[in-house]
Amino acid sequence: MSKVEKEYLWDIHLEDHTSPYEGKQATNKDMIFMGGREVISLNGDWKYAVDQYESCIRQKWFKEGYYDDKGFSLPVDFSFEQWPTMKLPVCWNVVSPEYRLYEGTFVYFKEFVLNRTDNDLFLRIGGANYVTRVFLNGEYIGMHRGGSTPFFFNITDIVRFKGDEKSSNRLLIAVDDTRKPTQVPMDNTDWFNYGGIYRDIEIVEVPRIHIKDFRIGLVRDGSFDKISVNARLSYPAEGKFVLKIADLGLEKELDINEGSAEAVIIRDEMKNDIELWSTENPRLYDCELTYIDTAGRELDTVRDRVGFREIRVEGTDIILNGKSVFLRGISCHEESVVNGKALTEDERIENIRLAKELGCNFMRIAHYPHHENMAKLADEMGIMLWEEIPVYWAIRFEREETYQDAENQLLELIGRDYNRASVIVWSIGNENADTDERLKFMSRLAATAHREDKTRLVSAACLVDAQELRISDRLADHLDLIGINEYCGWYTPDFNLLPGIMKNSSPDKPVIITEFGADALTGYHGKVDEKGCEECQADVYEKQTSLLETVSFVKGMTPWILYDFRCPRRTSYIQKYYNRKGLLNEDKTYKKPAFYVLQNFYKKLMNK
Ligand code: GCU
Repeated sequence: MSKVEKEYLWDIHLEDHTSPYEGKQATNKDMIFMGGREVISLNGDWKYAVDQYESCIRQKWFKEGYYDDKGFSLPVDFSFEQWPTMKLPVCWNVVSPEYRLYEGTFVYFKEFVLNRTDNDLFLRIGGANYVTRVFLNGEYIGMHRGGSTPFFFNITDIVRFKGDEKSSNRLLIAVDDTRKPTQVPMDNTDWFNYGGIYRDIEIVEVPRIHIKDFRIGLVRDGSFDKISVNARLSYPAEGKFVLKIADLGLEKELDINEGSAEAVIIRDEMKNDIELWSTENPRLYDCELTYIDTAGRELDTVRDRVGFREIRVEGTDIILNGKSVFLRGISCHEESVVNGKALTEDERIENIRLAKELGCNFMRIAHYPHHENMAKLADEMGIMLWEEIPVYWAIRFEREETYQDAENQLLELIGRDYNRASVIVWSIGNENADTDERLKFMSRLAATAHREDKTRLVSAACLVDAQELRISDRLADHLDLIGINEYCGWYTPDFNLLPGIMKNSSPDKPVIITEFGADALTGYHGKVDEKGCEECQADVYEKQTSLLETVSFVKGMTPWILYDFRCPRRTSYIQKYYNRKGLLNEDKTYKKPAFYVLQNFYKKLMNK
């Protein structure tokens, strides 16, 4: 039997076709600092196929075996160049009605030519949901797990260049968005599962020894005049970094030891005072970091626009730049009617503008990391953010692989957004039952977040103890800030339980109500006790805000949610596959009465 026949039989009989493609996982350790770097964009036209049976990896399409070892041509089940075209980045669900509800694998193909370089080349994907497998020029490059964080593959030794015998590069990527109970999130969520490469895909060229990470921020010691900087090279090389912050009149050399350097820069080293970042004054500084080797050569430079602010808690107070603050927030998914999860920059700006119109100084961008530009825009526009990893509902807390997946997503998020002043909270999850296994899993995540970042608050959206009717989630001991989701007046129909819950609770740290709300179908009017009408939603907001205002340890809220969003679980005549708890309808053309209830409440708080 020929090798090909063996392979064919292998393909139709092989049970475990994915195990050869579980290795070479891209993780947070493979990330490269991107600030100020040029990229070769691979956005645009890609060929694609719907690969329902994962034939690409079963039959190894990436090897492009068109002939057998005797030179006879072979029948194949793919023709990359003749496949239809799709413009990436995009969620495949919005490309065609036939793909709207598709869940499974798409395979994408692109051929491109590169100019020769002696530098290293990395393929970067800003976000692809959920398992991504990458093949280049006939070889398996690696895989990534996780639907909302960036990942990198080193393709230096595989790429071809203009002038080579074979000069074009043939890139094949398989993305599988199938929901699975062992993944993060698991297979049951309250949002639509968009699939595909839905954020930028690009090649980044860096010197072999380059700046791999650059973290900078205000030292959290109440002095507001010290800057900590931590930078790391891709190899344990020697030399120095030079940090320049022109508006501070700062130019500082940092000696590198075994590839990294860290320093605290004190006020005397700066010509000017630091103007603190805040939502009223979102002051950003252009920072530049250069790596100079021992021969004095400037080998790599990165840049970032950074705000300096301090966030901490004191008792049940949240303290921004030394002053206590109430987080006037709103929750928001990453979704649009037209673009699914692949929001345009204008849509991101619109969401922040709407939040500010509500009177917000804070947004809970749930339940997964949104596009990195959301935090960059929040830095510029002056709004604080709660960012979250999708440890959502019933995760398989007993599985170590599931923990590794969650922790990697957390570290990829922190690695990506560490320098963003607007991000004040890392949330490690949402609405998980308070079991021993969950406590072990999530206290590990909290410890990881605290170890990785000593300048931010770690939180999670927890549940009220439904038996004892009080806040008593054991995870709270591991958090700086307790998020509480409570739906009194909605899922808990008797609103009058809420005063008791608050009276029964005595948390020793700040609480923010990370969710309350009610569904309202735009244009559906009725009495306040008619669930699903606009009046009912407004009444819930009236009652909730009036009560919560009286609770001393409640120091913020992010009601659920800015605008209606797609949700496959919701089929009633009110919902029609949407969650209608938005303060606006799904295309944001209509503000429901509850929008104005919350807006008036925040206005009152601001005028206090
Ligand atoms: C939960 C959950 C949200 C969900 C909301 C709702 O609290 O955190 O993701 O959309 O309730 O039921 O509307």
